[in-house]
Amino acid sequence: MKVSVDEEKCIGCGACVSVCPDVFEMNDDGKSVAKESETDKDCAKEAVDVCPVDAIEVE
Ligand code: F3S
Repeated sequence: MKVSVDEEKCIGCGACVSVCPDVFEMNDDGKSVAKESETDKDCAKEAVDVCPVDAIEVE
């Protein structure tokens, strides 16, 4: 799967990091970034569901 976070949309709520810390982390601006832009971890899909602003895309 390919994972990306739209920094413009991200409000830094941190839910993605909570459900999937292996893939997401917060950067110095308080936004989420995908540490692994290619991953087979299913929690990346969970993160899509929990993000309140739909900033995460998984293909
Ligand atoms: Fe941002 Fe959504 Fe994660 S708002 S911190 S991408 S849950």
